[in-house]
Amino acid sequence: MYRYAFLLGAHPTISLAEILNYLTNQKIKFEEYLWLQDILIIKIQQLPEEIAKLQNELGGIIKIFLIKEEFKGKIFQLEDKLTPEKLLTDFFAQNETKINFGLSIYANPDPSYAELNWLSNYAHNIKQLLKDKYSIRYVEDKSWNLSSVQVNRNRLIDTGAEIALIRDKDHFYIGKTLTVQDYASYSERDFDKPSPDAKSGMLPPKLAQMMLNITRNKKTKVLYDPFCGSGSVLQEALLLGLDVYGSDISPEAIKNTLSNLEWFIKLKKFPQVDLKTHIKDADATTVNWSTLNKPEVVIVTEPYLGPPLKSLPFPHQVKDTLEELSSLYVKFFKNLNKNFDAVQTIGIVFPVMKTREGLRYLDILEEIASLGYKPKIILSDEISKKDAGISPRNGFLYSRPDQYVLREIFVFERK
Ligand SMILES: C[S@@+](CC[C@H](N)C(=O)[O-])C[C@H]1O[C@@H](n2cnc3c(N)ncnc32)[C@H](O)[C@@H]1O
Repeated sequence: MYRYAFLLGAHPTISLAEILNYLTNQKIKFEEYLWLQDILIIKIQQLPEEIAKLQNELGGIIKIFLIKEEFKGKIFQLEDKLTPEKLLTDFFAQNETKINFGLSIYANPDPSYAELNWLSNYAHNIKQLLKDKYSIRYVEDKSWNLSSVQVNRNRLIDTGAEIALIRDKDHFYIGKTLTVQDYASYSERDFDKPSPDAKSGMLPPKLAQMMLNITRNKKTKVLYDPFCGSGSVLQEALLLGLDVYGSDISPEAIKNTLSNLEWFIKLKKFPQVDLKTHIKDADATTVNWSTLNKPEVVIVTEPYLGPPLKSLPFPHQVKDTLEELSSLYVKFFKNLNKNFDAVQTIGIVFPVMKTREGLRYLDILEEIASLGYKPKIILSDEISKKDAGISPRNGFLYSRPDQYVLREIFVFERK
């Protein structure tokens, strides 16, 4: 077993669910894990080269580290653990005589000023000790948290190392970065598509990928999005190797989806798909697509979230919208029950309205449960109860601070 650390994204609870579900579905054996809010430390059987390949399939993972050392005590002991010799043999990827290295800290509690001072001296000292033999550069950042861009631009992984110092109270783990998120590819998928739809809104690719990973299971081969909009979920599902189908009530949305998927298939050099037979206009509350009524199909979708809100509303101002949306969602589940009874798993976004008197949720869980659809418990009760990233009804919350409509993400299972 190797010990790895995963740096989780801006919504660490969803990232945690994503990675655990992903490993289980791919039948990748893992043991004991330790969740430190932004970091997951976990023992996995697979070799580092194989774990590095997971990076592009996990929207919620920013970096993957291989843990090489650990100790209990004070930060100053790093000097004994990470000697220049040790760095040369176990950490640095030496590209001839050139070494670029950097240090990032993920610590709870935060490092003190004295500790940071000591670390900075330590890093400069390493540089001094090795500079006669190597052309060595220390890449420093005031935040002590190198971004994926900094790691890439300075070529730390292939010409040196990013060393991650992870601290859980007095327990230190020293990791070496294996991979960082391919930020350029996510940005291309998000912003370069030929037919975006700013009006209805688009699911960020990272979130689409996380939703797919928490929803799919070992049997999943096909993805259906019945509110496909401009096709973000379909695009990410293609990337994960699924066969994709989509529908939307708006012919304009269908045109956008077709154009975006054609572009994406060309960009990634995927085999051609006869898109016209996979994408059609249909009302999600009445659609019947019998070829998709199979257990190997999962639904991942973001239905309509209501009109955009420009300022923080009073609860009575969102009452009508919530009623209208409740009715749409319930009708959708009734139709699933009627026409898609073999589809067992549905990953779906519910809107949550931020009001002057707190959050307002879609109050339809009981009605949906009476149809046989219950939220799947992905993380343990212990985590769900105390974590702020999970709503009181056990949905994952996803939002930016400036948003008035939050997303609440559920995975429903049909019993
Ligand atoms: C929030 S958008 C989906 C965005 C999509 N996930 C994306 O990233 O491109 C919601 C979509 O639901 C569609 N819609 C609304 N009511 C519908 C219905 N009854 N049946 C099917 N689609 C519907 C709208 O046309 C819109 O394209």
